[in-house]
Amino acid sequence: MVKVNPLALITGASSGIGKALTEEFAQAGYDVILAARTAPKLEAQAADLKQRFGITAHVIVCDLQTTDGATHLHAEIKNRDLMLSALVNNAGFGTFGNFNDMPLDSQLGMVELNVAAVVGLTKLFLPDLLATKGKILNLASTAAFQPGPYMAVYFATKAFVLSFSQALAAELASAGVTVTALCPGPTASGFQDRAAMQHSATVKGKHLPSSERIARKGFHAMQRGRRVYIPGVKNWILAQLPRFTPRRLVTFIALFVIGPTKE
Ligand SMILES: NC(=O)c1ccc[n+]([C@@H]2O[C@H](COP(=O)([O-])OP(=O)(O)OC[C@H]3O[C@@H](n4cnc5c(N)ncnc54)[C@H](OP(=O)(O)O)[C@@H]3O)[C@@H](O)[C@H]2O)c1
Repeated sequence: MVKVNPLALITGASSGIGKALTEEFAQAGYDVILAARTAPKLEAQAADLKQRFGITAHVIVCDLQTTDGATHLHAEIKNRDLMLSALVNNAGFGTFGNFNDMPLDSQLGMVELNVAAVVGLTKLFLPDLLATKGKILNLASTAAFQPGPYMAVYFATKAFVLSFSQALAAELASAGVTVTALCPGPTASGFQDRAAMQHSATVKGKHLPSSERIARKGFHAMQRGRRVYIPGVKNWILAQLPRFTPRRLVTFIALFVIGPTKE
């Protein structure tokens, strides 16, 4: 009998943590669907994974920052008669600066990609995941644990992802589907350039962990069925502090930790 590999959809697979996650899945024997907007990067990554791991790597070019992005991606996967065993909601971006100075479309775009697409894809692929007793890995962030002045909408989107993931994990446990919220701190990837956060105190002059390291830890957390996973002891401790500190004080501290460095 021909062995069929489990299949994982990874959004945001062209760069950073998502690209590194495709390697983790391929190495573990999953076939993969790589989804993002940049076709050449996806094609190159798919060819590399096929060659190194002997798996099947599908490429689907899509924009998930649109009202029907999730529906189109789901339809394309069903047209190809594919069934998921794992869904990785990884595509996302942030912006850095005063909310008052930000264009409205960039702020709503974050809600569309970081929140609406996560809900849409999860809902649309849930029948697959229930049938395969599959796994969901959602990219939250340490940003999920407190408000984030200068990245107000981004932090709020990640709080949504964390809350949504934990609630779903509880709902789906008896059905054998696991949901893991991966909550990394600042990580070296394309994120900082897109967010234009080179002057933020969270990254300026800091040595950030690699996307590969975060992806490896996140993948193992998903395999173990962890509901929330925060890589790094320091990040874990910082994520606990808001539970014991008044919210106003937490937000005041965040203002300096996230805000622009003085120069
Ligand atoms: N890096 C960090 O410090 C950090 C920390 C905590 C959590 N995270 C989270 O980790 C996730 C991955 O981010 P990253 O750090 O790996 O950043 P990244 O290197 O910028 O990767 C983002 C990925 O999302 C894709 N993407 C962006 N807009 C898209 C759209 N409209 N439709 C479809 N795909 C889109 C990008 O591909 P295309 O441009 O080709 O579409 C890219 O593959 C995000 O959810 C982020 O919030 C990041």
